[in-house]
Amino acid sequence: MQSLSNDTKKYFAAEKTVSKWWNPTEGTYRFHYEKELQVLNEQFPVNKDWKILDVGTGKGRFAIYFAKNGCKVTALDISEEMLDIARQNAKKEGVADKITFVLGDAEDLSNIKQKYDAVCCMEALDHIPDVEKALSKMSAKIRLGGYFLFTYVPETSLYWKLYYNLFIGKKIGIARAYPDNYAAELFKKNDIAIKKLFGIGVVFPTGPKVLKIPLYALARLEKLIKPYYRNPSFIRRCTHVIGWGTKEN
Ligand SMILES: C[S@@+](CC[C@H](N)C(=O)[O-])C[C@H]1O[C@@H](n2cnc3c(N)ncnc32)[C@H](O)[C@@H]1O
Repeated sequence: MQSLSNDTKKYFAAEKTVSKWWNPTEGTYRFHYEKELQVLNEQFPVNKDWKILDVGTGKGRFAIYFAKNGCKVTALDISEEMLDIARQNAKKEGVADKITFVLGDAEDLSNIKQKYDAVCCMEALDHIPDVEKALSKMSAKIRLGGYFLFTYVPETSLYWKLYYNLFIGKKIGIARAYPDNYAAELFKKNDIAIKKLFGIGVVFPTGPKVLKIPLYALARLEKLIKPYYRNPSFIRRCTHVIGWGTKEN
């Protein structure tokens, strides 16, 4: 599997880096990323009394989702700038009082003192250099029987094979994809048994305008046929996998 240098963390902690390109609620990306929330909404039962830890919260998408479902959320990120944006978004959505924002590193988590009913790490596993260390820290924060929710990019996805590797991967090198079974083995080593996996978007609407517009049309057509996939052979071709497991020990 591709390794990420420790400079990746400096990149994310710096201002005007990830905040510039991570806009999952805007433009053609909105169409793709809203399917992650659709999967949770339709498939993941949330209890309003839960406490949730959202690692790599970014602009707060999932922290806000869980807060709107009544949960108390701790939203952690390595970037002060992203936390500021997430704070403003939570305020706009009327759930600021349900979320505590914490500056921290997924590979450390020593400033998180309690256990949670669910820990989520969405669109962030791809960017953490020592993912084994991060997984052991995150797993330690889940109560027995609690949930770990995640997304990752499969190495076998068309997006990774065709677009990321050819066009952007070599240029910025701050993301990785996961080989088949790697995530399941990594989670198992950390006492997390995968319960559900879904694939979203074989077609990902990205790239220069000339590609983006036809890809967007294709992606919409794909969604009409299947909003998300459960079949393993489709899941491995999708741009993102979203899933969850339970803490077993
Ligand atoms: C692509 S964004 C995803 C944000 C959010 N989870 C979502 O799905 O909308 C990745 C986020 O992870 C954060 N991040 C990257 N490395 C991290 C680390 N080692 N510890 C904590 N957060 C990290 C970044 O600063 C960024 O806000």
